Amino acid sequence: MTALPRHLLPDNAEIHPDGWLSIAGCRVDDLAAEYGTPLFVYDEAHLRARCQEAMEVFGEGVAYATKAFHCLAMARLVHEEGLCFDVATGGEMHVALVAGVPADRLILHGNNKSLEELRWARELGVRRIVVDSFDEFDRLDQLHAEDGRVPQILVRATPGIEAHTHEFVRTGQVDSKFGFGVGSGDLTKAVDWASGSPAVELVGVHAHIGSQVFVADFFHQAIEVIAPWVRDLDLPELSIGGGLGVPYVQGETAPTITEWGRTVVDSCRAAGITSRVVAEPGRAIAAQAAITVYSVGTVKDVPGVRTYVSVDGGMSDNPRPVLYGSGYEAFLPRATAADRPRTVTVVGKHCESGDMLVRDAQVPADLRVGDLLATAVTGAYGHSMGSNYNKVLRPPVIFVQDGESRLVVRRETYADLLDCEA
Ligand SMILES: Cc1ncc(COP(=O)(O)O)c(C=O)c1O
Repeated sequence: MTALPRHLLPDNAEIHPDGWLSIAGCRVDDLAAEYGTPLFVYDEAHLRARCQEAMEVFGEGVAYATKAFHCLAMARLVHEEGLCFDVATGGEMHVALVAGVPADRLILHGNNKSLEELRWARELGVRRIVVDSFDEFDRLDQLHAEDGRVPQILVRATPGIEAHTHEFVRTGQVDSKFGFGVGSGDLTKAVDWASGSPAVELVGVHAHIGSQVFVADFFHQAIEVIAPWVRDLDLPELSIGGGLGVPYVQGETAPTITEWGRTVVDSCRAAGITSRVVAEPGRAIAAQAAITVYSVGTVKDVPGVRTYVSVDGGMSDNPRPVLYGSGYEAFLPRATAADRPRTVTVVGKHCESGDMLVRDAQVPADLRVGDLLATAVTGAYGHSMGSNYNKVLRPPVIFVQDGESRLVVRRETYADLLDCEA
């Protein structure tokens, strides 16, 4: 029977006396009328506040993980707030550069960087390359022989920590495609190689243990494991990656960026690390800043089993439920604070039975065809992981602030679907 928990909405969400939701002074019904549905609505001040929190607690060198949500407007916002950028592919790098982000703010990640990506990053003069494998060292050697450039690098450690999160977003365990294992001796070999190589300048160690991690102790454990390499070689930088979890549904809570940052920095100092400590939050910056607004098109009762509520988007704008079984809260923006006594399954319009957005969604009793229905906490890994499956058009993204909305990514058109056809 519970209403939508208020803390799952963006910072500047407000509920009008008539029940309608507005974000940063923009009513959701007006936004839907102007831009159509589905629609991603981001609270710009919320994004800025989370960036400022990260800068405050970690300081210069902290990065935003662009994989969470990336477009020109977001890159400009993050750059204005002073953060660096974790980019994991040439494509993410390209978007940041076109947004006007200087190359020396970019940190290039990836477990399989191509020779071309590495060549480009070195020529641009990116801030750091986070080296992930011995094969990558070979490529860096080859490129050094070509042009003599010496990039600053971190080596990515796999500390052997099993963070309690979904196995697909867990990365710090021994059995991982990412990084150099500590237990296997690979991290030592990698650090030795990098310290002795003329092809790179080793400036630190990086560890990212996974995503959607709620328990600060996992970060503490990872720091304890990698501390000796940073301490003994007196390396100037340690990056703890990203991974801070956010609440998606009723009953979940997570540390704030400030609380997480203090735990990480305190653990580093307690482990005798005096170097600069940085991080790469993605989800914790973008997730709660946005909601996705859909229109309800079909309501189908399967008596005694369930009610399907079909909306005009689905796994193409939010594949997380299908990939990870992730939970979300659904609500009606016309009755944001209303009780939600009815249990339904919110599904998309794709030709897959698995195309579910919210398996057991609590909604108001009077939900009906034509309603706007929204899901909360959709700012991370929704737009960025979206697809054109079934040739469904990707939704637009708008930023709202001080009663004004602006289109930052337009809705795709049918013509866009044919853009790459030869
Ligand atoms: C290396 C690295 N850094 C940062 C992140 C961002 O993680 P999150 O969005 O959970 O903060 C990821 C996510 O997969 C990652 O792989």
